Amino acid sequence: MLESSDLRLTRISLNHGAGCMPALGFGTLIPDPALTITATRDALEAGFRHFDCAERYRNEREVGEALRAGLVAGGIAREEIFVTTKLWNTNHRPERVEPAFEASLNRLGVNYLDLYLIHTPFAFQPGDDQDPRDQNGNVLYDRGVTLLDTWRAMESLVDRGKCRAIGLSDISLNEVLPIYESARIKPAVVQVEAHPYLPETELLEFFREKGIVFLAFAPLGHGIRPGPLEDPVISAIAARVGKTSAQVLLAWAVQRGTALLTTPRTAARARENLNISALPEDAFEEINRIQTRQRFNEVVKTGSPGFIPQGS
Ligand SMILES: NC(=O)c1ccc[n+]([C@@H]2O[C@H](COP(=O)([O-])OP(=O)(O)OC[C@H]3O[C@@H](n4cnc5c(N)ncnc54)[C@H](OP(=O)(O)O)[C@@H]3O)[C@@H](O)[C@H]2O)c1
Repeated sequence: MLESSDLRLTRISLNHGAGCMPALGFGTLIPDPALTITATRDALEAGFRHFDCAERYRNEREVGEALRAGLVAGGIAREEIFVTTKLWNTNHRPERVEPAFEASLNRLGVNYLDLYLIHTPFAFQPGDDQDPRDQNGNVLYDRGVTLLDTWRAMESLVDRGKCRAIGLSDISLNEVLPIYESARIKPAVVQVEAHPYLPETELLEFFREKGIVFLAFAPLGHGIRPGPLEDPVISAIAARVGKTSAQVLLAWAVQRGTALLTTPRTAARARENLNISALPEDAFEEINRIQTRQRFNEVVKTGSPGFIPQGS
């Protein structure tokens, strides 16, 4: 358990001397470009200092524009924010990694990344089409490249000082293990779905033991109702501690030692999602005892993301 009641300032150390990651991250999976810009600006203004992007979200340009304007307006230095983006499935071939990385840097308008993740362990047919499919609508996978091949190309980005840390996303323990064992530069962060209905305790314990940061997406169950936001245990605790259900879920995630990503789209929600404080221990334990199990995002099974309009 954390000692401080001010969870907003929690920072988690990364392995390989790669600095610290603010535990509370703002996710940029926002399909509308104008909303991407306003939500990113609002998040920065509210105090978010960790921004999670992806080439697959097709809005790195808008995120970069909002960050640049926000940094200038707020007198905030680039070094004060933590920027992540992700290599998409169609760029797993080692020779495609650096060009994809450079293209992301260029769109974001930054000259280094704090963290670069392999978005999913599934390699898709290489090319410009991010969602390659056959005539029957089945995903075209690329069997000519292994995840370790891609990992080696990621390691060389760190060697050349292009990004401070590298990691994985949407991956199971069985898939992380061989990479962890063979890696020269161990994964610093792994991003997966996690909330009280999908606590991923085994993964969390393994990461804790190996010094890998567990970065939870969908800490609010992607906002899907019914879901953790409407769980009676969460609502009762929220009423008891005078917080919203969202704040209780986010506090629980930080208190169990994970970093998290949330996507508030308005300034009020951004302030709400940052304004979390430690739950009393009995409340924390009560949440750990929730028995409902539900995964909201199937990306981990196929590499095809949920929540991104098909064909875009
Ligand atoms: N690696 C991957 O494959 C992967 C997959 C998915 C997401 N991600 C990352 O994770 C980030 C987080 O996405 P997420 O879906 O997990 O975010 P989330 O914040 O857990 O869920 C977003 C949903 O929660 C609602 N919400 C946000 N704050 C709320 C609050 N205070 N009270 C009530 N509802 C609230 C939003 O509602 P409104 O729409 O009404 O604002 C939205 O519907 C993404 O932006 C992306 O960066 C990664």
